[in-house]
Amino acid sequence: MKILVTGGLGFIGSHTVVELQNRGFEVIVIDDLSNSSLDVLDGIEKITGQRPGFVKMDLRDKVKVHEFFKSNPAVEGVIHFAASKAVGESVKDPLLYYENNLATLVYILKELSRKQKSYFIFSSSCTVYGQADQLPITEGAAVKPAESPYGNTKQIGEEIIVDACKVYENLQAIALRYFNPIGAHESAEIGELPLGVPQNLVPFITQTAVGLRDELSVFGNDYPTRDGTCVRDYIHVVDLAKAHVIALQRLMDGKNSENFEIFNLGTGKGSSVLEVIKSFEKVSGKELNYKIVDRRPGDVVAAYADTEKANDVLGWRAELDLDDALASAWKWEQKVRQVKD
Ligand code: WQD
Repeated sequence: MKILVTGGLGFIGSHTVVELQNRGFEVIVIDDLSNSSLDVLDGIEKITGQRPGFVKMDLRDKVKVHEFFKSNPAVEGVIHFAASKAVGESVKDPLLYYENNLATLVYILKELSRKQKSYFIFSSSCTVYGQADQLPITEGAAVKPAESPYGNTKQIGEEIIVDACKVYENLQAIALRYFNPIGAHESAEIGELPLGVPQNLVPFITQTAVGLRDELSVFGNDYPTRDGTCVRDYIHVVDLAKAHVIALQRLMDGKNSENFEIFNLGTGKGSSVLEVIKSFEKVSGKELNYKIVDRRPGDVVAAYADTEKANDVLGWRAELDLDDALASAWKWEQKVRQVKD
């Protein structure tokens, strides 16, 4: 069986391709290269010694999607990362997000619904919870009205899969709700490659430390948390990638208790922005230049996962901690900028 990884040259996608190949899967990647580059294929090959199949495609072209599945009948498993994911951009251009994140999902599910059996892993996000009423956050926590069109596409995406799985018995699916993915493969052959000014905390930290940015702006220190800065559950991208392989294997082995399951993927530990900075300074030996500025609209105060279901039902547990993730992010940043310590 071949596994299709859409968005497989992206940050989480590329790390998942590596873990799939490590476990003997044959992988084919579809990516439109809008937020990634072909060099990532080289990076994957350097790590595993196998170059995944690759098709450059805009998944909004449903004819091309249909032709792909027709000429690749062996593809029964799909891990679907391809989507636009910038919260701020989604507010400015909602229709781009609804088309690119949802129309493409429908086209892929339609192809899978025609198969005898098919396995689908959906890249979802803790964003669906908004500011949860209770911490840590379980999968049963209320899905709050989305704070952005991006978050809404994840909520609607899950609902689309629920309805499809009700009708197509052969379609088995799992949604993985990521907390905050950070870090890079230990080889520093692949990692996060944000285009332009990074929106996310960790790439901004590493770019500041490497001299690409003057200073980090900490968005508010007047939140009701232990040090006033927001708390998040930062999960190493390699741990996250392994969870995708375990989830796919669960479906292939028929171990899922219903044909659509949801799992939170986090470490279960919350870290504040200032704690992340402190950890980074420890592992890098660099003093980080930062200043406290106003809050960023839309930020939730705190979010971290209840990992019981992922640990006990999925059989997956995060093995790497914040220091490991930040050290790998720093090693990757230095490699990308060809900077030695
Ligand atoms: C983390 C914390 C910021 C940048 C987003 C998406 C989520 C998922 C992960 C896709 C917050 C603070 C950040 C900076 C800062 N993406 N921060 N200065 O917002 O938790 O989640 O990325 O699925 O869907 O919403 O991650 O890294 O942007 O922010 O102080 O320059 O760091 O205020 O408290 P976030 P983040």
